[in-house]
Amino acid sequence: MGVDRLHVVFGTGQVGSALAARLAGLGLAVRAVSRHRPPALAGGIDWRAADVTDPEAAADAAKGASVVYQCVNAPYTQWPELFPPLQRGVLAAAERTGALLVALENLYGYGPTGGRPMTEDLPLAATTVKGRTRAAMTAELLAAADAGRVRVAIGRASDFFGAGVTQGSTLGERVFGNALAGRRADFIGNPALPHTYSYVPDIAAGLATLGTDTRAVGQVWHLPGPATGTTRALLDLVAGEVGHPVGIRSVPKLAVRALGLVNPLMRELAEMAYEFDEPFVLDTSKYESAFGAAGTPLTDAIAATVAWYRTRTSTP
Ligand SMILES: NC(=O)c1ccc[n+]([C@@H]2O[C@H](COP(=O)([O-])OP(=O)(O)OC[C@H]3O[C@@H](n4cnc5c(N)ncnc54)[C@H](OP(=O)(O)O)[C@@H]3O)[C@@H](O)[C@H]2O)c1
Repeated sequence: MGVDRLHVVFGTGQVGSALAARLAGLGLAVRAVSRHRPPALAGGIDWRAADVTDPEAAADAAKGASVVYQCVNAPYTQWPELFPPLQRGVLAAAERTGALLVALENLYGYGPTGGRPMTEDLPLAATTVKGRTRAAMTAELLAAADAGRVRVAIGRASDFFGAGVTQGSTLGERVFGNALAGRRADFIGNPALPHTYSYVPDIAAGLATLGTDTRAVGQVWHLPGPATGTTRALLDLVAGEVGHPVGIRSVPKLAVRALGLVNPLMRELAEMAYEFDEPFVLDTSKYESAFGAAGTPLTDAIAATVAWYRTRTSTP
């Protein structure tokens, strides 16, 4: 594979590192970019240090790319100030290299849907601070594409879980780590409602498809994952894997709001609580019709995630 087919992944975090591994596994030339060298990257992946808030540095790091992927993220409590400039750097890199830009987004931009499944044609009607930030970032990408400055494919995924996902996710340490340690899982909201959870290897596979299949260009795609069920049913699968029941330590919303007055992270979680007060269902049929079904069965995804948590020497 020549450098003219170089795939450059911006961000080496939870999704970026899995995506880089996926692309390398497909036999593609891959470069991963972040400020700090990640502790582990799959073999054969070139890594380059760059701060993407500097468009020159971002463009330089993307030199030779045919596809760039936006998998950077800003601290959860500072999205409005810090996230848009990160994406602008990746956008600048795509524009200057002429590479296709594949951007990973979450579902915050849609806002509450009254339980209606989310399809790609829903308006971005977010009412939260982070949701409006995300919607404005999407608008910037689409405006650049409409102006002919860049080719874009957008992949959206829901709250995710998987090996290596510990923080920054509903289904991280406070669910899997707690369950293995015999503690109750922390959960804000109603566990009896259907909620789509995405699985990191499926997100990586979906983004790789968007970056390698020209039919994806110019569109938004909901990335497939395990079938949607209730959070309670998912926790029952976790219980089956850890070998004992997993209770829920439910954090009342009023308490979350009150804690939010003094704790910035709680404040950020409180504004997203609507996701767990109504069915939160991602419709991925558009992707599946175009590219085929691709989600990992939930039982396999949970088993692999619990197996990864078991390999860690300790759980906090
Ligand atoms: N959490 C979820 O459940 C979820 C669900 C769906 C979609 N998403 C979306 O997925 C995307 C990726 O999230 P993630 O959880 O994989 O991210 P993450 O684990 O927080 O990693 C973020 C990455 O961005 C890099 N980065 C941050 N600032 C940078 C800068 N100035 N220059 C270069 N690199 C920088 C970080 O590396 P350095 O610090 O070393 O630079 C890190 O590798 C985000 O858009 C997120 O909203 C998340």
